[in-house]
Amino acid sequence: MDGNLGKVVITGVEGRIGPTVRAGLRADADHLVLVDRAPITGVREEETAVETDIAELDTLVKAFDGADAVVHLAGIAEEAPFGELLGANVQGSFNVLEAARRCGVRRVVLFSTNRVTGGYPIHHHVFPDEPPRPDGLYGVSKVAAEALGQMYADTFGLEVVALRAGSFEEEPTETRHLATWLSPRDCVGFVRAALTAPNVSFVAAYAVSGNARRFWDLAVGENELGYKPVDDAARFASRFPDDDPFWHGGPQSGRYAGPEAVLPHLDG
Ligand SMILES: NC(=O)c1ccc[n+]([C@@H]2O[C@H](COP(=O)([O-])OP(=O)(O)OC[C@H]3O[C@@H](n4cnc5c(N)ncnc54)[C@H](O)[C@@H]3O)[C@@H](O)[C@H]2O)c1
Repeated sequence: MDGNLGKVVITGVEGRIGPTVRAGLRADADHLVLVDRAPITGVREEETAVETDIAELDTLVKAFDGADAVVHLAGIAEEAPFGELLGANVQGSFNVLEAARRCGVRRVVLFSTNRVTGGYPIHHHVFPDEPPRPDGLYGVSKVAAEALGQMYADTFGLEVVALRAGSFEEEPTETRHLATWLSPRDCVGFVRAALTAPNVSFVAAYAVSGNARRFWDLAVGENELGYKPVDDAARFASRFPDDDPFWHGGPQSGRYAGPEAVLPHLDG
């Protein structure tokens, strides 16, 4: 890698993860195209802001003109009514991939989620090529987004990396994060690796810090993307009770799984 990322589009740049990715890529990109439906703040000379909903395919095609890569963050990042998830995460990801294809963009980094396999029990070590086991409708929508990425890679030769992000936080704030924490530093590390790794067709990899208590395998990230995370939530372990019921069994998504998490978003 020569360090130059070229012209990179970041969708969903005004969310929780976006500013960290924006700051982390700035030094090595020629130009950043910032996409969000929310107002985009602090735009610099080497940045272009495009305020749009990702539902607007024609606007995305204009925004992606001449881009080398897209980091796709925009969407709904939690459990929600299925129709909303279909629009934002499935149709939205389709629009991003299709705009990338039309513009000849080389690579798309899709932000997926650990929740695509959040239904596996906590004592199961999950490899990215195991069958999906989404813990709710949000996870289902990201399974579909990953499938769209695989299809665009197989059919059109688009290079696609689906990063199954863990829990992005400055520091762990709950027991589960001892397994699932994704530090800002490792988040940028995974994104940079996803943008620069050679010989990519389609890769799905967990993007989680090197937490001693993690339940996701990191070999794909290390072998295919060339990134080994540097942080470990273990250094915060004393903040959380060892005997937390979370460790006694149940789904990896803990309180984010189960009927209490999904039912509020179902009609009737
Ligand atoms: N935060 C996490 O811990 C986490 C974990 C796993 C996966 N992810 C994934 O990473 C991505 C970013 O997460 P986040 O926490 O920053 O989310 P967020 O909700 O904080 O931000 C999402 C951003 O996307 C924008 N957006 C939403 N829908 C849009 C639309 N239809 N058109 C244009 N812009 C739209 C919002 O305005 C917002 O700025 C999401 O795809 C999420 O599913 C996040």
